[in-house]
Amino acid sequence: MSTKWSPESWRDKPISQVPQYPDAAKLAAVEDRLRTYPPLVFAGEARRLTEALGAVAEGKAFLLQGGDCAESFAEFSANNIRDTFRVLLQMAVVLTYGAAMPIVKIGRMAGQFAKPRSAPTEVIDGVELPSYRGDNINGIEFTPAARIPDPERLLQAYNQSAATLNLLRAFAQGGFADLHKVHRWNLDFVADSPLGHRYKELADRLSETLDFMAACGLTSETVPQIRETEFFTSHEALLLNFEQTLTRTDSLTGKWYGCSAHMLWIGDRTRQPDGAHVEFMRGIQNPIGLKCGPSMDPDELLRLIDILNPQNIPGRLTLIARMAHDKVEAKLPPLVRAVKRHGGKVVWSCDPMHGNTIKSSTGYKTRPFDRILGEVRGFFDVHRAEGTHAGGVHFEMTGQDVTECTGGAKAVTEEALADRYHTHCDPRLNATQALELAFLIAEQLKAERAGGQRIAEAS
Ligand code: PEP
Ligand code: CO
Repeated sequence: MSTKWSPESWRDKPISQVPQYPDAAKLAAVEDRLRTYPPLVFAGEARRLTEALGAVAEGKAFLLQGGDCAESFAEFSANNIRDTFRVLLQMAVVLTYGAAMPIVKIGRMAGQFAKPRSAPTEVIDGVELPSYRGDNINGIEFTPAARIPDPERLLQAYNQSAATLNLLRAFAQGGFADLHKVHRWNLDFVADSPLGHRYKELADRLSETLDFMAACGLTSETVPQIRETEFFTSHEALLLNFEQTLTRTDSLTGKWYGCSAHMLWIGDRTRQPDGAHVEFMRGIQNPIGLKCGPSMDPDELLRLIDILNPQNIPGRLTLIARMAHDKVEAKLPPLVRAVKRHGGKVVWSCDPMHGNTIKSSTGYKTRPFDRILGEVRGFFDVHRAEGTHAGGVHFEMTGQDVTECTGGAKAVTEEALADRYHTHCDPRLNATQALELAFLIAEQLKAERAGGQRIAEAS
């Protein structure tokens, strides 16, 4: 690995998952334009997220990361953004009760477009076309024209990300996220369910606490933490030519930051230690994620940690394990042990989505709720056994009442998947399923706390 890094040094490395643009001149012109566009995030915000994640790495906070598998141009609306944000707020409240710790909130939002694909082409009824790679690259319609990568889509994705981020900032700081609104975050279709009732009970308790605090002089006016929340954005840094255009030097520190989102991550298919994606990510100062699937071996992981976080900064690196419900107990412990022995200061997060995708009998790509939950439980069990902090969760979810994952308290059946299956890529948890999962994780977090207390009492 050469030590000389630049925003384009990745271009000399082997790369996978790149779209083939037929018009190189048009692509270059779009990249030139993007280079002149304002950054979407500010380096100081990325540093602030590293600090918040540093607390997670030290066992003092918990990470909640969630949103679409793939954002799309078609589903872009204020209501969609608001509803996903609102479910994340609800989940965060539930988790705060369980963990009795700050919850670091990061959306898979405002830039999560590009998708790695398992095959470069797709065959339907004997017709073979290039695979859909995300709305910032080509179109999902199964026609030859739609599937041609079009650089103009990068500009539309940039604009959509900017507008999404603008609204998220307004929601986070403009009063919507005020804890006094905790009841109003309950979405109508959730409110009627047992989960909605459970959430209401918790919100009632929170309101009582807020009343008590107000009596002590702690109100939205006096305490910004009651009035507003910190919310960060993230996406997979798959499309390096796009990421490069938004890589800027920070005027305060002179260092390079990827300014398309606060956090970026490396996918499970593009994490080759000598590859282009790892090369690009090692040089930007943002907090970064690394997906760890079942094929990750401990030595390879340690090598990646040395490349990506040579100074061992807590919060710089989040390892996002996505093993599958029936592999997590076998595959995760060797990695956790190796990192612990190595002294690596990392955040361990659990993505229980990507290892648990199956095809339903009705032909839909789906994920059974029980398997998602099973992987989360396995993840917590492993960390409890190893004496490490189960630091966070990473979900594909939406605030809409979709039918994409089967099961959950409201029991989406395989037959019902066709009702409201809207995802542009992988199946997402709907708002009810996401909230249910948050309650189940809160219980795990409570148990982790009780375990910690027992350890403290015994020592
Ligand atoms: C994703 O997070 O959407 C994804 C493709 O994940 P992974 O790289 O873990 O397969
Ligand atoms: Co996905």
